[in-house]
Amino acid sequence: MEHRSRIWFLVGLCLHLKNIDCGVFPEPEQSLSVPPGWAPAEHLTSSDSIVLTFALKQQNVKKLEELVTRVSDPDSPDYGHFLSLEELRVLVQPSEETLRTVRTWLEKHGVVDCDGILTRDFLQCRTDARTAEELLPGARFIRYSNGDKSVVRSASPYSLDPEVAPHIDFVGGLHRFPQEQKLLRRENGKRERMSAGFHLGVTPSVLRQRYNLSTSDVGTHPNNSQACAQFLEQYFHPADLSEFMSLFGRSFDHRLEVDHVVGQQGGGRAGLEASLDVEYIMSTGANISTWVFSNPGRHESQEPFLDWMLLLSNLSSLPWVHTISYGDDEDSLSVAFMQRINVEFMKAGARGLTILFASGDDGAGCRQVSKDKNVFRPSFPASSPYVTTVGGTSFKNPFQVTYEVTDYISGGGFSNVFLMPDYQASAVSKYFTSSVKIPPESYYNRSGRAYPDVAALSDNYWVVTNRVPIPWVSGTSASTPVFGGILSLINDQRIKRGRSPLGFLNPALYRLHENATAALFDVTEGCHLSCFDDLVQAQGFCAAPSWDPVTGWGTPNYPELLKSLL
Ligand SMILES: *[C@@H]1O[C@H](CO)[C@@H](O)[C@H](O)[C@H]1NC(C)=O
Ligand SMILES: *[C@@H]1O[C@H](CO)[C@@H](O)[C@H](O)[C@H]1NC(C)=O
Ligand SMILES: *[C@@H]1O[C@H](CO)[C@@H](O)[C@H](O)[C@H]1NC(C)=O
Ligand SMILES: *[C@@H]1O[C@H](CO)[C@@H](O)[C@H](O)[C@H]1NC(C)=O
Ligand SMILES: *[C@@H]1O[C@H](CO)[C@@H](O)[C@H](O)[C@H]1NC(C)=O
Ligand SMILES: *[C@@H]1O[C@H](CO)[C@@H](O)[C@H](O)[C@H]1NC(C)=O
Repeated sequence: MEHRSRIWFLVGLCLHLKNIDCGVFPEPEQSLSVPPGWAPAEHLTSSDSIVLTFALKQQNVKKLEELVTRVSDPDSPDYGHFLSLEELRVLVQPSEETLRTVRTWLEKHGVVDCDGILTRDFLQCRTDARTAEELLPGARFIRYSNGDKSVVRSASPYSLDPEVAPHIDFVGGLHRFPQEQKLLRRENGKRERMSAGFHLGVTPSVLRQRYNLSTSDVGTHPNNSQACAQFLEQYFHPADLSEFMSLFGRSFDHRLEVDHVVGQQGGGRAGLEASLDVEYIMSTGANISTWVFSNPGRHESQEPFLDWMLLLSNLSSLPWVHTISYGDDEDSLSVAFMQRINVEFMKAGARGLTILFASGDDGAGCRQVSKDKNVFRPSFPASSPYVTTVGGTSFKNPFQVTYEVTDYISGGGFSNVFLMPDYQASAVSKYFTSSVKIPPESYYNRSGRAYPDVAALSDNYWVVTNRVPIPWVSGTSASTPVFGGILSLINDQRIKRGRSPLGFLNPALYRLHENATAALFDVTEGCHLSCFDDLVQAQGFCAAPSWDPVTGWGTPNYPELLKSLL
């Protein structure tokens, strides 16, 4: 809460000195706490360079929202009528007044080294620390290090000149720290029961068997493509991919190389997460051209996730499916940031892109709000109503291809920021009326966007990294590329038939279940983690028939899912 008192101090000072213009604080709820492992490092000089990202106020956001709803709704005559990036620009670009006001203000402070993007709604500028602090009163830049990397962030909240504040949603590059590695390695105790047909962990052939992919279920259309994005300063090695495919990819046609790396692919050791994403999206989405977005925005003062969002709006031709394992606690992010990122997801949906996020690995999560009160802790962007969120499962019998049950880490719950979208209202209300084990309402917000939407196996994967096969890799960052690859196969079949790609999936997904469907294997057993307190005793939500806030609708049964989404 320290940052709040600082804001009040600044606001108080401002009110006291009545004759000066009070600044506007666009992100009052943004956490200023320094994540564990980071500490102030060597002194920053006033001439050290800073990169600031200005999110300029867009036009027609309401229209954009209506348009995404229409082009993603299979019952609408506009289903699949996506916009080009140029058409999207015409819709959302800032007004001339916004562009002029912001430019004039920046120039007045000598900030002139700026880059725009094709939709004109972000501006990224290089300047020095002293100028940035003058431009954004309140900001105080410090260099932090985690022993390995360093970042430049502001230790206190920034404000905006009241003249420009109405034209800017937020300024990036001041507060949010890069995410740390989150993948889990869980060694499973149960080594007994190795009867005939046992498997020792999840591999592409186990996934293809479970999700009913035949050897001929691979991509065939040259114009289809898929992508995963990495913000962890991690790299994949092409040699790991070929090693992985030679060990585990013998039974299906696949590609051996990533087609396109956007961003910096540094040297050094490969990262487990980066290896996992590439190896598994290319195994379910087999033989489909694959891109990797690798650590965009590597300058000390940039936010890699935000930079990836800018990249999407600066490239007119992109893969149709994107899988991302980034996530942060909703309560640590400003509402202005989350709402604007949500609009960026609408922009992606308007173009026909399918964006999948991992639901997180902390179950319902837990946050202590007072000495004896805890609440669940939703994660963003998993909680955005404009992305498809993927939870996790494990096999009932960990050594056989059996039915799936909840993986207790599977992230899920209800947003405190985004209202429940219409497409899921009846599914969620059915969950509440038919489910018996529901946690006390004081822990979450029944009116919020509920997630995940779907799930896939998240336990016990094999990954090749630095030429070594590694077992027991777990997390929803495994299930997400698996589900993404399967959607890419469906896009392949749709494109082949002259249809549009799937685009933003949720309206079509939730509609499927108006009628009984075999498109997804319903997961009905097990509960995920939550607060370790007397009231809930570490139990969050539980899987239940049909949709639930642990595994969504369930895991893919490819032939049936294809039939229903064609
Ligand atoms: C957007 O793309 C253009 C053209 O490739 C480039 O000049 C510009 O620097 C890019 N913008 C950003 C913010 O990177
Ligand atoms: C798919 O897999 C399930 C279980 O593995 C099986 O029962 C079903 O018959 C398979 N085929 C189809 C088309 O659903
Ligand atoms: C793999 O995809 C390419 C197009 O990208 C296609 O020409 C080829 O036939 C596909 N391979 C198989 C085995 O289907
Ligand atoms: C792939 O896309 C290009 C450019 O849009 C188009 O000219 C070409 O016909 C497409 N190929 C196929 C097989 O549809
Ligand atoms: C619950 O969600 C609503 C709507 O998003 C929001 O206004 C409210 O503050 C949330 N409640 C809590 C306890 O966060
Ligand atoms: C559900 O079934 C009804 C009646 O057969 C049909 O009209 C409707 O299109 C079906 N909905 C979906 C999403 O398949």
